[in-house]
Amino acid sequence: MPPNALPIVASRMARHRPSACDDCHVADAPFGIRPARDEDRLPLAVLFAAVAEERSGIAAEPPVDVDALAIAQSLDGALAAAAGDDIIGWLHVEQTPFGFGEIGMLVASEWRGRGVGSALLEAAIERARERGMHKLSLSVFAHNTAAIALYHKFGFVDEGRRIRHFRRANGELWDAFEMGLLL
Ligand SMILES: CC(C)(COP(=O)(O)OP(=O)(O)OC[C@H]1O[C@@H](n2cnc3c(N)ncnc32)[C@H](O)[C@@H]1OP(=O)(O)O)[C@@H](O)C(=O)NCCC(=O)NCCS
Repeated sequence: MPPNALPIVASRMARHRPSACDDCHVADAPFGIRPARDEDRLPLAVLFAAVAEERSGIAAEPPVDVDALAIAQSLDGALAAAAGDDIIGWLHVEQTPFGFGEIGMLVASEWRGRGVGSALLEAAIERARERGMHKLSLSVFAHNTAAIALYHKFGFVDEGRRIRHFRRANGELWDAFEMGLLL
């Protein structure tokens, strides 16, 4: 293993969920989960900007300054999902001084429904326990059924609905759920 390589903390073959991407090349490709490292900065920022362009799952909206984000983002607490040389997913746990960690995550659109989000979250929960956190928490848009199902699958519970909480670039006000998992 090269000296600067970090261990793969989880790896698996993508499982197949019927989707709009049924015939795409990622269907059976293997991927791994590992701590994010310095050379991931730019691809992670590019992936973040692409998901922000969707304007539906994450709070950030375009324009994303990819170069600035690549430099500024924290790699501490960040996991990357990688398929070969491609970065296909990201999960960040912001560890607070109060014992809980705040999660943000995303998966490249062509890789969704194939277990990448589950693998990232499973690894993050294990890591948070190892780091002595007592809880993971997050905010999720109320319409984000895929993300909410993922969090429920791992035992997160609904802790409340924030009404008309996020103002979007188009002026809409979106509700969000607070969710938490006691570790
Ligand atoms: C939410 C997200 C991270 C899920 O990642 P993913 O790789 O697609 O998740 P998985 O394939 O591991 O699916 C995990 C679970 O989510 C649920 N799920 C996934 N896709 C779903 C869909 N389209 N509809 C309903 N539930 C879905 C299922 O419960 C699934 O578990 P199962 O396969 O055992 O039934 C991904 O959709 C994403 O990046 N979305 C855009 C960004 C975003 O919304 N981030 C979260 C912000 S809070």
